[in-house]
Parts: sequence; C-alpha cells; structure tokens
Amino acid sequence: MSRDAQTGRAAIVTGGARGIGLAIARRLAADGWRLALWDRDAAGAIAAASSLGPTNLGPHHLGLGCDIADEASVAAAADATWAAFGTVRGLVNNAGILGPVAPLWLQPPAEFRRVIDVNLTGTFLVLAACVPRMLEAVGPDRGRIVNVSSIQAKEGMPNAGAYAASKAGIVAMTKSLGKELATHGILVNCITPAAAETDMAKEITPARKAEILARIPMGRFVGVDEIAAMTGWLLSDDCSYSTGAVFDLSGGRATY
Ligand code: NAI
Repeated sequence: MSRDAQTGRAAIVTGGARGIGLAIARRLAADGWRLALWDRDAAGAIAAASSLGPTNLGPHHLGLGCDIADEASVAAAADATWAAFGTVRGLVNNAGILGPVAPLWLQPPAEFRRVIDVNLTGTFLVLAACVPRMLEAVGPDRGRIVNVSSIQAKEGMPNAGAYAASKAGIVAMTKSLGKELATHGILVNCITPAAAETDMAKEITPARKAEILARIPMGRFVGVDEIAAMTGWLLSDDCSYSTGAVFDLSGGRATY
C-alpha cells in the first residue's frame, strides 16, 4: 500500500467528469486519495465521483458543479471541498477547452478570449483559491499541484493559436508558482501531453487528427491512463525534488 493510501489524502481534479480528468481521478482513487471532482458539468461530476466507489477513509468522493472561469463558482467549490475534507494536499488543474481551429488572424476575438479565460485565467482562479488554503496545512510538506498544459504550448500548432497560447501561459505560470512555493512545502509541476482520443478529439476533423498524429514520432496517440500514471507520480511522496518543471508525454514530439 502506498503512503498516500495509508493517509487517505484528499485531492481536487478540475474537469474530472470525463476524459483525461476522469482517468486521473480513477488512478488517484486507486492510490487511496479522496477526491473532489470539479466540473462545469455538475451532473457529470457527481456521476463520475460516484463511479469511483467508496473511499477507505473519511467521506466519499465529491462531485461539484464549478465553472473555473467564474471566481464566485471557484470560491464556492473550494469552500465545499475544504468543508468536506478539512485539508487538501493534491490539486490537478485539468479543465480546459479547445477553442477555434483556424489561423490566428481569423480567430474571432470573443472565442480567443474565451479560450484564455477558461484555460489560463480559470487555472489561475483555481490556484488563487486553493494555494492559500493549502498553505494553512500544518507541517513542512503541504502538497503537490499538477497543471495540465499541452505539447502545443512548447511546439506551437498551426490553427490552434489561442489554445497553444493559453497552454504556454500555464507553463510560465507553473514555473513562476513553483519558484514562489519552493520553500513552502508545495511542489508545482505541469505536464504537456500530445493528443489523446477523448471527447476533445471528437471536435476535430479526421484530416486534422491525421495531421496531429503525423507529428508524433511514436505514431500513436497518448493513452489517458499514461497521463494519469504520470500525474499520480507527480502527486505522490516519490516526487520530492521536482518543482516548476515541465513533464513531457509527447511520444517523442517534444524537441526541448
Ligand atoms: P474533454 O473535453 O474530454 O474534458 C474536459 C472536461 O473539462 C469536461 O468534463 C468539461 O466539462 C470540463 N470543463 C470544460 N470547461 C470547464 C470550465 N470552464 N470549468 C469547469 N470544467 C470545465 O477534454 P480532455 O481531452 O479530457 O482534456 C482535459 C485537459 O487536457 C484539457 O485541459 C486539455 O486542454 C488537456 N489536453 C488534452 C489533450 C487531448 O488531446 N485530449 C492533449 C493535451 C492536453
């Protein structure tokens, strides 16, 4: 049994109703974490939380409706989570949207802003609500944060300018926050997956999908369980000397 399972630690996964977030939640639940799944899709979050089964220790997993781009909604979800769990030592900022697939200069400003609002500002709002509460925990080791970026943050991607820019912002925010918290017992890292075949992938055409696949040297998409496994390690006690760092899951696509 892992140390996390022994202590029944609590973690938040945003966008946990489906896709990569749900895979991460399943992995963390198997590792013994109690989870709060925050998702804009409240019914989906509740269904996902109950699909995880009972916890061994403490309250059951929680599913909460939360729009990460809305400050009041994030504050309410944080209040409910800390009220249920007392302390939270894991945070996975996973919720995100794809936005327009079009050349940058043709992206409608309102849609560009929406992608930045959800992916970048939303991640900031969740961090701003949770980090002060995590810092209140007693002891030198207060937890771990994983932000879900994308390989497109590092490599860019034609016809995904808003998305790639929002995800590059997450990389920079991770590096800044990791340095700020380095002596406060909270490690902050981000992951940069290549494409996974989730609902998000259904938003693009087969031709676009083939274009993305052609960029991956391994010649296959990343499995959501592979992303969950890396996230599980980044939240575990075994991750102890990495912070402000970017962990690739790119099948060889990353060039730096
Ligand atoms: P998905 O579309 O299957 O699931 C995203 C989840 O986030 C949904 O449950 C949705 O309701 C929720 N969500 C969206 N906007 C929200 C908001 N404003 N507040 C709260 N919840 C919100 O997407 P997928 O593929 O599981 O992606 C998860 C994360 O992984 C995203 O940040 C995405 O950018 C990132 N990612 C995805 C890749 C892929 O190829 N699928 C590759 C690399 C990164």
